[in-house]
Amino acid sequence: MDYIEINKQAWNKRTLVHFDSKFYDVAGFLEGKTSLNPIELAQVGNVQGKSLLHLQCHFGLDSLSWSRLGAKVTGVDLSSDAIDKARWLADKLVIDANFIESDLYHFGAINKQQFDLVFSSYGALCWLPDLNGWAQIISDALNEGGELHLVEFHGITDLLSGYAYFAKDQPDVEQEGTYTENCVGEKSTTVCWSHSLSEVINALLCAGLTLVEVNEYPYSPYNCFEGLEFVEGEGYQLLYKGQQVPLVYAIKARK
Ligand SMILES: C[S@@+](CC[C@H](N)C(=O)[O-])C[C@H]1O[C@@H](n2cnc3c(N)ncnc32)[C@H](O)[C@@H]1O
Repeated sequence: MDYIEINKQAWNKRTLVHFDSKFYDVAGFLEGKTSLNPIELAQVGNVQGKSLLHLQCHFGLDSLSWSRLGAKVTGVDLSSDAIDKARWLADKLVIDANFIESDLYHFGAINKQQFDLVFSSYGALCWLPDLNGWAQIISDALNEGGELHLVEFHGITDLLSGYAYFAKDQPDVEQEGTYTENCVGEKSTTVCWSHSLSEVINALLCAGLTLVEVNEYPYSPYNCFEGLEFVEGEGYQLLYKGQQVPLVYAIKARK
């Protein structure tokens, strides 16, 4: 199964829907709004003058938000349509950022550059079959003392939606729509893998990175799972038997 080609087609289709969605609010972004959330803004801190590699950057809103804060950004994504849109946004806003269309593993195999920061967020890891390979790519792409900032949806949300929490030999192959409010039901085939929090952490440790912080959050900035309720000033929460479910985790690791 050519999972890369299957997922590329799905993400090309999704990108065009996402670009026009309220969820991504491109109009607001063009007027100057950041797409970054308090979790990653607080964790990453000052990026002024730092080189930042954004893995799985989608159509570049977060990448360009980091650029606006002074980072020198390189974004990598599998979807050709996403990279076209990211380049279009960078041109329109006259932001100097570099966008590369590539499968993450292919990028890792040929990348020679090293960065101060690697960033990846919200819905990235489920598209990757091999986390040891992913972590090694990050380690190779960081300067000594450089930092990974990963902010990701908690795998418990997969479990509550009927998917595996722990890694399985075979991926989930599904017909899926997308998560933005303007999705009209058109579906694409997607190929995804579950990764537990311990699998993510162990992959980073195996690649020689030092964990600086691991945090779990009971709020998601995005309303993208069933049953979420909005809590003013916090975000979206999910209650299970009256208790808050961890929805997001964030890892800071150093080389
Ligand atoms: C949910 S999005 C990332 C979310 C991002 N925080 C956002 O909303 O802007 C996942 C991204 O991973 C990309 N992707 C999936 N598989 C990939 C791969 N093998 N290599 C590189 N990018 C990949 C997709 O094209 C998509 O843009």
